[in-house]
Amino acid sequence: STPLRLGLAGLGTVGTGVVKIIQNHAGLLAARAGRPVEISAVSARTRGKNRGVDLSDYGWEDDPVALATRDDVDVFVELMGGADGPAKAATEAAIAAGKDVVTANKAMLATHGQALAEAAEARGALIRFEAAVAGGIPVVKALTEGLAGNRMLRVMGVMNGTCNYILTRMENAGLPYAEVFEEASALGYLEADPTLDVGGIDAGHKLALLASIAFGTRVAFDHVELEGIERISIDDIRHAADMGFRIKLLGVAQMTGRGLEQRMSPCLVPAGSPLGQLENATNMVVLEGDASGQIVLRGAGAGEGPTASAVMSDVLDIARGIRLSTFGQPAATLAAPIPARATAA
Ligand code: NAP
Ligand code: HSE
Repeated sequence: STPLRLGLAGLGTVGTGVVKIIQNHAGLLAARAGRPVEISAVSARTRGKNRGVDLSDYGWEDDPVALATRDDVDVFVELMGGADGPAKAATEAAIAAGKDVVTANKAMLATHGQALAEAAEARGALIRFEAAVAGGIPVVKALTEGLAGNRMLRVMGVMNGTCNYILTRMENAGLPYAEVFEEASALGYLEADPTLDVGGIDAGHKLALLASIAFGTRVAFDHVELEGIERISIDDIRHAADMGFRIKLLGVAQMTGRGLEQRMSPCLVPAGSPLGQLENATNMVVLEGDASGQIVLRGAGAGEGPTASAVMSDVLDIARGIRLSTFGQPAATLAAPIPARATAA
């Protein structure tokens, strides 16, 4: 049967994780997809770098745009990161060439998702982004497929592994922020620009993407009320603990009578609650539908294996011929959201 041929741009934490799954699970993937899943060619910034995986069977492109438009690439897998720059240029080039795109890039989608989705739909191409939200937790699919029959009431949760790692390690080990930050970096949790993590921006991007799917609205990251964890001290954490609480970077999106409310900020949660018990880089997303009631999803929100697992779920969907719209419905039908805060006075 005809293989699905990938062009993989980005060979860092997530990209090498994807290579490992494709190499280690070739038989399993082919059985599930009904066809082999292969890598045709790859791209990264530095060609000669030892990445701990064997890339010798694959073609190489220095330029991700050239990779995205190769004749032997059916699906462009974008794992470089960055809202603009080569990630956006190569994604646009892939779409223009009519190729499907799988990406883990929440910054790009939170900023340009509407335009990219419209462009993809105009070309009959797909953009899929399971890995962009909550690492290994299949939350995008939960919303676009599992809960598709619901009017969604609320989406909330802890969506940044780095922040949860920092907050829980500071508390559990009594370690200073700087030391814990270095640990998170060594574990591959951090964005290339770590202020995206600790400033709450990365989690805000994820919340905005989920809100779009949940409420049928255009992605509106600009409307997310945002506060990061940079100003949380070990004393804040101890005081909270003394009163039976933990501090979590918590996101909430809900449609209110005043419009769409989207907030990402440090919150006190009861230490004994499911959210309060989240340790390390674990994420938890709570989805509340009018028919389903509350669904709670919990799992690794960052790191090589979990994120690569999510990338592969999109690749397999495409290999199986599943053609879901980027945000769960055609991009042109998404409504312009009214931010709740603009009408709050
Ligand atoms: P990373 O470890 O920093 O890797 C980035 C890769 O992109 C590197 O291989 C780098 O090449 C390559 N690259 C950067 N600029 C490039 C350019 N101009 N041309 C070609 N290649 C370029 O990043 P990551 O952690 O794997 O993250 C990748 C994406 O996944 C990001 O969008 C991130 O937000 C998202 N994500 C990450 C995680 C996670 O846990 N790490 C989880 C969910 C989503 P070199 O190696 O040669 O420098
Ligand atoms: N930097 C992100 C986090 C990676 O820590 O959650 C996963 O999106």
